[in-house]
Amino acid sequence: HSVIDVIRAKRDGGRLADEQIDWVVDAYTRGAVADEQMSALAMAILLRGMDRAEIARWTAAMIASGERLDLGGLPRPTVDKHSTGGVGDKITLPLTPLVAACGAAVPQLSGRGLGHTGGTLDKLESIPGWRAGLTAAEIRAQLGEIGAVVCAATEGIAPADRKLYALRDVTGTVESIPLIASSIMSKKIAEGAGSLVLDVKCGSGAFMKDQRQARALADELVSIGTAHGVRTSALLTDMSVPLGVAVGNALEVAESVEVLQGGGPTDVVELTLALAREMLAHAGLSDVDPAEVLASGKAYDAWRTMIGAQGGDPDAPLPHAAHVETILAPEDGVLSTLDAYAVGLAAWRLGAGRARKEDPVRHAAGVRCLAKPGDRVTAGAPLLELHTDEPDRIPAAREALTGAITVAAAHAPADLIIDTIR
Ligand code: URA
Repeated sequence: HSVIDVIRAKRDGGRLADEQIDWVVDAYTRGAVADEQMSALAMAILLRGMDRAEIARWTAAMIASGERLDLGGLPRPTVDKHSTGGVGDKITLPLTPLVAACGAAVPQLSGRGLGHTGGTLDKLESIPGWRAGLTAAEIRAQLGEIGAVVCAATEGIAPADRKLYALRDVTGTVESIPLIASSIMSKKIAEGAGSLVLDVKCGSGAFMKDQRQARALADELVSIGTAHGVRTSALLTDMSVPLGVAVGNALEVAESVEVLQGGGPTDVVELTLALAREMLAHAGLSDVDPAEVLASGKAYDAWRTMIGAQGGDPDAPLPHAAHVETILAPEDGVLSTLDAYAVGLAAWRLGAGRARKEDPVRHAAGVRCLAKPGDRVTAGAPLLELHTDEPDRIPAAREALTGAITVAAAHAPADLIIDTIR
């Protein structure tokens, strides 16, 4: 094979043969295809696209670059969830123990945040003692006993994607539906769950800003999962407004615990229950009502056991920011915009996120949204709290919020759950 022929074929708008795909993904993982060659191919794919069959094959090749976790033989049906990422999206935290308490096993292999969206592992690491790293044997054992694991992806999962994603990140080739869909699904399929529910977000705080693109991505994700024998469906959900009140690591853990204790913001509860119902349907447990299980306290018990099993103390106080500054409503009326991207960026600048992979996150940093679109506000009433340990970060966070808040005479909030794609 010649990598130049593969690049030329896609550059000129052709389709890649199965053998070409298998070869180029494997050769790149082994280092036999250079970064500059793969980045040329990634750009050709971004500009020319891939058809369904090419995407399915590309995904299979990325799965084959590493190991596939074997979750067969567990006493419970396995079902996983993946979100394309958003601001204040802490749903994995209440959802995983809830679905486990309903009788399924949820292997939630997660990532860290980069840019304005937070990562699940960063959030959980604000719990004293909690550790993200488990071996494949530990994951299996914990799934069998508790049914709930949230941990870092093991090194062996889809190494081709790890390498390619880092390359795309620095070559302007992230924003390609075939590359995004194969990247997400190669990891999820390699994690070995029997079924999968995707939360595909659209709006300013999401990867996909518009609904048409988000729908196209959701269709592609569902099609890849189905082609690989994994029952897959997707919820298309709004990410133009932050999810819940809390944005930031420890703040989001605290809000998740409120939900597990039967309270919490209504949007977080609504999305958690909708995703739980979809997951339970895939797992053959649609007779279990997750709202009842949540109200019974069993999901909270599962949370405590899950956190404890990974060294965390569920009763330990969470870190609190040394400095809290309040942003006030500019006038009387109804809050009509609270831009998710701007709030995510503000939280990031307060220290909740990282600029480079190696940077630490500040666990206490973030934003609390005291009003949401549709709420009546009065001039001078508190709208947002900015939490940080470093007050010199406040001006940059305030600047991120310029134009992010509008107050109008009336406002009907958009639907959180836009559609379900099966
Ligand atoms: N998330 C992924 O895992 N991969 C992408 O390509 C984009 C988002």
